[in-house]
Parts: sequence; C-alpha cells; structure tokens
Amino acid sequence: MSGRPLLRRIAEKVLGSNYGGSIWKRIEIIGDIAVIRKPFNLSEEVLRVIGEELISSLHYIKSVWLAVTPVQGIERTRSYIHLAGEKRSETIYKEHRCVFKLDVTKVYISPVLGYDHMRVAKQVKENERILNMFAGFGPYSIIVSKYGKPSYVLSIDINESAVRYARENIELNKVASLNEIIHGDALVLTPSLQSEFDRVLMPLPDLFEKAVEASVLIVRNGGTLHPHLFVEARNKREALARAAESVKRVIEKFGIYTTVVGGHVIRGVAPRKYHVTVDVVIGKKSR
Ligand SMILES: C[S@@+](CC[C@H](N)C(=O)[O-])C[C@H]1O[C@@H](n2cnc3c(N)ncnc32)[C@H](O)[C@@H]1O
Repeated sequence: MSGRPLLRRIAEKVLGSNYGGSIWKRIEIIGDIAVIRKPFNLSEEVLRVIGEELISSLHYIKSVWLAVTPVQGIERTRSYIHLAGEKRSETIYKEHRCVFKLDVTKVYISPVLGYDHMRVAKQVKENERILNMFAGFGPYSIIVSKYGKPSYVLSIDINESAVRYARENIELNKVASLNEIIHGDALVLTPSLQSEFDRVLMPLPDLFEKAVEASVLIVRNGGTLHPHLFVEARNKREALARAAESVKRVIEKFGIYTTVVGGHVIRGVAPRKYHVTVDVVIGKKSR
C-alpha cells in the first residue's frame, strides 16, 4: 500500500478534492501516530473527522494528533491537541533499519531529515570521533554509528526528554558502547571539550554561526563540519551555492582554510528560503 496517495484519498473523501487535495501534504506518519499540521482555514471539528477517518482506514495508525503551533522555542517542539484514537504520543519510529522510541509532543522529529542522516553516515570513515551538537532523540548519532563505523560519538542536547530517548535509543540499536550522551547547552560545552573531533554535526539552522564558531575550536585539522543554515535563494542550486559562501565566510574569519566538499538542500521553508546543510573540510593554517 502506498502511503501518500492513500492519505490524499482519505482527505478528499472527508473534505472533497479542493481542501482534501491540499491538507494531505500536512499529514506526517511517525511510527503508528499520524500528525496533522493545522491548516489555518479548517476547524478542529473537521480535523477530528479526518482523524477518525485515518484511524478507520489505516490499520497501522493508532493515534492522531494536531500540531497547533509551528516548531518553536529552544527545544524546537510544537504544541499539540489529541484528535482521534488512543491518547498516546509515544511511538517507535523506524528509519534506515534503526528503531527510535520517542514522544512526538516532547522532541523534534521530522522524517524529511532521513535522507541527510544516511548521506552523512556514508561519509564517515572507520575510527572517526564524531560530535553531534544538537542530537535530539539520536537519529544522526545512531545511523552514523550503524553505517559509518566511528570509534566514538558524543551527542549533546538541551532537551531533557530528547536526551532520555537518545540514551534509550543507543541501547535499542546496540550502539551504546561507542556513544556518549550529555544533557546541556552545546554552545557552552563544546569549547570546553578536551580532545579533538574528526567530524562535527550541527543540525540546528537557528544557531548556525554560534555553532560553527564553537566547533572550529575542537575539530581537528582536516576534519569535516556539517553546519545547517537558512539561506534566501531563487532555487535549490542557488541555495547550495549561497550556503557554501556563508559557511566559508564564517569559518575563514578565524584564519582557517575551507573546502566545501558537498551539501544538501533539506527543504524549502518559505517562498525563496531554504534549509541547507554543507559539508566543509577545514584546514587550520593561516593564509
Ligand atoms: C532540529 S532539532 C535536532 C534534530 C535531530 N538531530 C534529528 O536529526 O532529528 C534541534 C535540537 O537542538 C536542541 N538544542 C537547541 N539549542 C541547543 C543548545 N544550545 N545546545 C544543545 N542542544 C540544543 C533541541 O533541543 C533539539 O533537540
């Protein structure tokens, strides 16, 4: 059964092709939970009917939640209302044959990052030491541990629930022996780390510059940084080029050489605005 066309059919059955044709794009399936991002033009009553329809048409959906705010605050979470099915927001989400326990209302979760989790894992060489400054419930750290063969992965997150799930998830995926997880502010903790890292992940565009400034202190000469950032651009190609320029500009302020070796447009976030990540190798020699 193909998920997306089915969601569209269910939404159209309840709302007709006009509204239904657009709302299905706002439905995300996380494990056995469906999350609807609230469209401003539909009432909660109508959305409850869609919730009930999702539960009765899709046997694997047990609970439906309505996200009534965008991602917000330091922990990057949304506010939710329960719409239909079991009143449960904890689930098991699967990605790249890894399993993640999480509560959709307590941690940041976006399946759109799934491609980048594996894209980064494929770049990791054996025995690398990796720092993940904004680890959430652990997907980059765990997928990188499974597929990249690093020797050590240090994850930091400021959200206590995310840290609790990340600790459980490294056990569930049998990568606990090479993973360490710290609860705290990565901008404060990173500069005080005592040893160098081969690779630093920074999956939080809101803190782009501050995260890069902290990471250059602890990345080894020849190591790789993966900052995330927002850029304004007319298309994806221009977005990647602009992101590379911004990253170079921020790092080269420190008298460090940079070579951008790759990148990926995660998604469009607004008209002419993109969330982008860049892979940049750094060389610590002054010009
Ligand atoms: C976009 S989410 C992480 C996404 C996650 N890595 C993934 O792949 O799904 C950003 C995370 O950064 C955390 N965060 C925000 N500010 C932070 C800080 N100063 N130090 C550490 N973690 C922080 C939030 O709690 C949130 O879990």
